[in-house]
Amino acid sequence: MKGIILAGGNGTRLRPLSLVGSKQLAPVYDKPMIYYPLSLLMLAGISDILVIARPTELPLFRRLLGDGGRLGISIGYAAQDEPRGIADAFRIGTDHIAGEDSALILGDNLFHGANLPSLLRRSARRLNGCVLFGHQVADPQRFGVAEVDEAGRLVAIEEKPECPRSSLAIPGLYFFDGEVVDIAKGLAPSARGELEITDVLRAYLKAGRADLMWLGRGVTWLDTGTAESLLEAGLFVRDVQRRQGIRIGCVEEVAMHMGFIDADACYRLGEEMANSSYGRYLMDCARISGRLPASARQPGGWP
Ligand code: G1P
Repeated sequence: MKGIILAGGNGTRLRPLSLVGSKQLAPVYDKPMIYYPLSLLMLAGISDILVIARPTELPLFRRLLGDGGRLGISIGYAAQDEPRGIADAFRIGTDHIAGEDSALILGDNLFHGANLPSLLRRSARRLNGCVLFGHQVADPQRFGVAEVDEAGRLVAIEEKPECPRSSLAIPGLYFFDGEVVDIAKGLAPSARGELEITDVLRAYLKAGRADLMWLGRGVTWLDTGTAESLLEAGLFVRDVQRRQGIRIGCVEEVAMHMGFIDADACYRLGEEMANSSYGRYLMDCARISGRLPASARQPGGWP
């Protein structure tokens, strides 16, 4: 399965902060925002990832992540010259997807939860069309919204409805089969001039091939599109990390956990940053994984 991180857009809701550079490189507590969606794709077992960003900002992403080799994965880059909407990612990513299944995550979406990695891997395995997720929120009118019938079956999808018919928001993480490219290419721009991801999802729903998975109470989903939500996300990460002594969105640790790199490589990556607590954490993770029996080699506590 291929992965795509969409890190384009003008970040207008984050001005003037986003005038400095890409919003998806802004710090969420102790690491760049893109680490969170990147680590999530990696936890789903995806190791071939395309980062889509504005042409002026691509060099910054490249400087941060390189070709992915240090994490034992492959990272490629493609430019989105105009923000034409989320579904545009499939036009830009056509060659990368190459007819395979793919997962798309928005570069400003942050997820955390105990059963998330196993849920993602299950979703990827049982993909028949598309998988979207539903998460209960207090302000669904800000998001794509899923309407379900009494049996919990998906019956309709709306983009930012004024009067939402449910409180089930659709987070910016989706799994698709290879057909998504043709579906996206057949879309017309919406009233706000964008190729909407909800139109892609609706096409799958119409064909009876859209699977809605509920993210239960154990999962936290944060988007970081405004100054307020960015700060909230940072505080959330700080609190969880401080309380539990683990790191969220730690791509090097995830790379080791997933077997993309070995403990030595993780240790060396930590050593390069040994002056920071992040670097020392990586060195500790590598040490622990080498010392404990295989069954206990899960410093992050992933199921
Ligand atoms: C986009 C999608 C929306 C989704 C949201 C998740 O909205 O259009 O369906 O629920 O991301 O973050 P946007 O962030 O572009 O307003």
